[in-house]
Amino acid sequence: MFKTYTAAVHDAPTPSASRTHRGGWIGSDEHKRAFCRSFVDSHRPFRPEGVAWPDLDAVGRERLAALPIWNEAVRTEAETALKVQTLGTIEPDPILAEAIALQGYEEGRHAEILRRLTERYGIAVDAFPAPRPPKSPRWAFVSTGYGECIDSFFAFGLFAIGRRSQYFPAPLIDVFEPIMQEEARHILFVVNWVAYLRARTPWALRPGFDARFLWALGGQLVEHARNAVRFGGGGSQQGFTMASHSAFGDLSARSFLELCLAENERRLEPYDARLPRPRLVPAAVRTALRFIRDGKSGRTAIAEAADAPSQNRRSA
Ligand SMILES: [Fe+2]
Ligand SMILES: [Fe+2]
Repeated sequence: MFKTYTAAVHDAPTPSASRTHRGGWIGSDEHKRAFCRSFVDSHRPFRPEGVAWPDLDAVGRERLAALPIWNEAVRTEAETALKVQTLGTIEPDPILAEAIALQGYEEGRHAEILRRLTERYGIAVDAFPAPRPPKSPRWAFVSTGYGECIDSFFAFGLFAIGRRSQYFPAPLIDVFEPIMQEEARHILFVVNWVAYLRARTPWALRPGFDARFLWALGGQLVEHARNAVRFGGGGSQQGFTMASHSAFGDLSARSFLELCLAENERRLEPYDARLPRPRLVPAAVRTALRFIRDGKSGRTAIAEAADAPSQNRRSA
């Protein structure tokens, strides 16, 4: 039912090279080949039906079911998959089309893995209307891609805490490790793709491009702020908040943000060093950190996260 991605990469010069591109690496054919190649070459082939779901005891299943993310995550992954896949089918440049289609495939795989997880552990998910193809696939991908830049930054930190605290058993964390890494590849691709598109946009049309980009980004920021308020005030999430306190409660806001920064850097480190990294969220967090003075450093938290398994082995 769910096919392994097998399409070949077409490494051909772009047919739509803009005459307005005036040199510089960002926006060049070489830049395009580098970010597409980096993305395609780091794809990991595996199938959702091959995922080995570990057995969970009652506490583990309860913790998993209490995570206040399932409705949002299942719906968002399905919508994202359709948006990216739609763009993959209409993108005229074969090199970009190949990489975007592959990203669409990976998002579809995320949606399928989440569907199987909720089924496997009996987690109820509200029905939602089937997603509809976007009217403007290119801008839908910009918007959703920058939404992922925000989500992934914090998810990287939360994931490291989850591993360190052993709030969930290691085999379950291991299932999600490649998915976290895929999100790192996705945001790296998106920021490079947007930088490429912008560099290829004629000067006269740049203000329009920038305005549309800011509109897409602003929409994501508003939506994320709304979700944060909803989550913060959600009485139904009380069980999760109380249960998770013992695992997360000792980490200060500063330590958490520093951990996110360090994890973000670590996850993006393996890829072509010439490619610009997502900067927006890390820069905003670095600015925020100037006003937050408390707690241990994220590097300490990282070291603890790395050390936790060996400590547990020692105490076993
Ligand atoms: Fe995803
Ligand atoms: Fe993604």
